[in-house]
Amino acid sequence: MQIISVKDYQALSLQAARLIGAQVRLNPDTVLGLATGSTPVGTYKELIRMCAEEDLDFSNVTTVNLDEYYGLAPDHEQSYRYFMNQNLFDHINIDKEFTYVPDGLSKDLEASCADYDDLIEFLGGTDIQLLGIGHDGHIGFNEPDDVFTAGTHLVDLTPDTIEANARFFKSADEVPHQAITMGMKGIMSASTILILASGKAKASIIRKMVEGPVDPQVPASILQLHPDVVLIADEDALSELMAL
Ligand code: GLP
Repeated sequence: MQIISVKDYQALSLQAARLIGAQVRLNPDTVLGLATGSTPVGTYKELIRMCAEEDLDFSNVTTVNLDEYYGLAPDHEQSYRYFMNQNLFDHINIDKEFTYVPDGLSKDLEASCADYDDLIEFLGGTDIQLLGIGHDGHIGFNEPDDVFTAGTHLVDLTPDTIEANARFFKSADEVPHQAITMGMKGIMSASTILILASGKAKASIIRKMVEGPVDPQVPASILQLHPDVVLIADEDALSELMAL
């Protein structure tokens, strides 16, 4: 795992956007795996600026998002589809037909999860998969468990995750208790994985992810098995690493 240590959130966002921007310039047909949460918002802002001011061209880019709340419609303000439109897609020259987010209203989950995995396989995996990390080590919505789950699947969110994500809703009661998430096979199919972490609150889980054993109770620890992972983190998020 390559670790890029930066001063703060602003520097992290610039660095991540530069890497993604370079990939899109080198290969205009890039397939990007995208994430939600607050961490990538600065990266998306910078990509929007690069599109507007530096001719970064998304017209041939395909995107595949990690996850979606189960039961939320695409136009629900807290759905991840809505988040992606608001924070990125509505502001760049991407063809929204080629932006994929799991269907939170699916009536046939088995079929729609299998279709999502087929899509990722058809695309040949993502070129860059962008990730944040939950306090419990979840990536996408792959929560701590006894096993790593390979395929796209429905998950029960942990009380911790529901609480952490309640800040985006009017109250914790409104946070859906389930989500559809890309599984570890989809995430690990990326050529490059770019994981972002900012702030002291992430320091302990970043240490477990990088220096602990590979353990499904710390889902992000699976990234130790991927040949090309770049962790971009600020000094606070890296503050508990022994090796630095
Ligand atoms: C959610 C998302 C994750 C994200 C995590 C951390 O649970 N499903 O993909 O990494 O939040 O969010 P934040 O970046 O706001 O800390």
